[in-house]
This record gives sequence, C-alpha cells and structure tokens, in this order.
Amino acid sequence: MENQADIKQSIREWWASYPMTYGSEHGVTTYLKEDGTNVQVEIGSREFFETADKTFYGWNESKHNEKGYFGKIFNYDKYVGKSVLEVGCGMGCMAMNWANHGARVTAVDLNPVAVSMTKKRFEIFDLDGDIREADGERLPFEDNAFDYAYSWGVLHHSPNTKQSVAELYRVVRPGASVGVMLYHRRSLMYRFLTEYVDGYVNMESQFLNPLELASRYADGDRREGNPHTWPVTKQEVYTRLFAQFRNVRIDMLGTEVELILNQWARNLGTNLPRPLLDACIRRWGWSLWITAEK
Ligand SMILES: C[S@@+](CC[C@H](N)C(=O)[O-])C[C@H]1O[C@@H](n2cnc3c(N)ncnc32)[C@H](O)[C@@H]1O
Repeated sequence: MENQADIKQSIREWWASYPMTYGSEHGVTTYLKEDGTNVQVEIGSREFFETADKTFYGWNESKHNEKGYFGKIFNYDKYVGKSVLEVGCGMGCMAMNWANHGARVTAVDLNPVAVSMTKKRFEIFDLDGDIREADGERLPFEDNAFDYAYSWGVLHHSPNTKQSVAELYRVVRPGASVGVMLYHRRSLMYRFLTEYVDGYVNMESQFLNPLELASRYADGDRREGNPHTWPVTKQEVYTRLFAQFRNVRIDMLGTEVELILNQWARNLGTNLPRPLLDACIRRWGWSLWITAEK
C-alpha cells in the first residue's frame, strides 16, 4: 500500500508527464484545425497557448459573456486590484484572464511543468503574477491572505480533497468567496460513460475499483489513467467538504453535453431546443461549480 507522500509524488509526476495541453489527450500538442487538418505546435510557444486556449474556451462556450471568458462564473469587476488565488493552474489560461482583468494573481500547481508553463505564458503575454509550485493540501500562504480563491478541475485529483478545501477556507479572508469545480459522481453522463460503458459494457469493473475506473476513464489517458480521480457527490459537498463554509451553492455545469450530443448525431446538441438542452445539462453535466463564503 502506497503512503500519502508516494501517492502525491505519483500524481505530481503524472501531471508533469501529461500536462493540460487540451490536445487529443493530456500531454499531446496536436490540434485539429477548422479545415480538418492537424497542426502540431511547440509546447510553451505563443502558438501553443493560443491554440490550447481556443479548445478550452470552446469547451466552455456557455460560461463566457460580454465581460470576458468565464465571465458568467467569475466576477472580474469585483476583484480589480484585489488578491486572487488559483489552485491547480495547469497551463495558466484562467490565471491569465484574471490578470488581464486587473486582479493581483497568485497561481499554484503541484507539478513543475504547469508552473514553468504558466510562468512562460505570463512572460509572453506580459502579465504580472506570483506563480509557484505548491500543494493545494498545504498552501504556503498565511491565513486570510486572499480576497478570492478558485480551483478548476483539480481538487478531485488530490488524495485529500477535504484538506484542500479546508486550505482554501484558511487562506481567504473572512467574508470572501471561493469557487471550485469538481467532477460529479452522480452525473448521468459520468455514470453512462464511465460506470456503464467502461465499467459494465466493457467489463472493466471486473478489474478496476471505482477509483481506478474514475482515474482511468474520467480524466486519464485511456491506456493507463491517472493516479487519482475521485468525483464527488452533492451530499459530500454540503455535509463533508464545504461544511465549514456559509452560503454553499452548487451549479451543475454541462461542459460537454452539447458537444457529445453532436458526436452522437450530427448537430443533435446544437439543434436541441434550449430548455431541453438545459434539462440535459442539469442532469447530465459532468462537473459541479461550487461557490461558498467564509
Ligand atoms: C485536470 S488539470 C486542471 C488544470 C487547470 N485548472 C485547467 O483546467 O486546465 C489538474 C491539475 O491539478 C494539479 N494538481 C493535482 N493535485 C494537486 C494538488 N494537490 N495541489 C495543486 N495542484 C494539483 C495537476 O498538477 C494538474 O495541473
């Protein structure tokens, strides 16, 4: 049985080997262009950031507004000149958006590749930020240091999600908000793709326990998976993970619903009437967007 330090080390190494490139798989820097051909870009180049961001923005189309990318979930105006922390910045796309909107950004990630790439991005786009390697379960910051903190698709990869959420609580000032995206264990899409198709139809549940199924099929490459992915339930969010926060609110995000329906049948998702698509998103969405106050 691996101890906590070994598990953390394997998580760190895995994400450094397969960083969040938004290519066809983690770590891959080949992208499909609109004309159907592939383009290969050099990781860390301006072209890489622009191409990867385009895919990331595309997946999250429904969260943007006239205020900017992810303007529906982030209140950029409120935090101009204020201190904002991101835990698990990956390639730094969200951190860049916060910096572009005038926040004082601190961004951390467990893996060194993410940190060097985010630093490079800030250099290329001429932005200021404090970007460091750090573990979300033991943040190197004082209590009450930040006006806002967020984390996107990260804390379910850390072995002790509860401790990571407790750290967010500790480092934001009293009255401050946090925003956390976590994978949703009860999502119909998650259950269909991972538990039903991979687990049941492909009989993988004979060989893999629920953690291994989630790690391989929810956010791994499909051969090996990653060391740790533990999607959460809403109940866990309210009663265990965010119990010390006030005004906890959960929104189901439908990140890929439209995209997946389009893959099943040409333009099915795009042509679905909005109320129906919203109903699918409410039940199917892969992720939970949790907001809460200290
Ligand atoms: C799925 S990626 C998400 C990255 C970025 N937020 C995005 O959406 O592109 C997960 C990231 O979490 C980082 N990570 C995993 N465990 C962590 C921890 N305990 N503390 C900080 N970062 C962690 C990984 O290194 C990886 O960069």
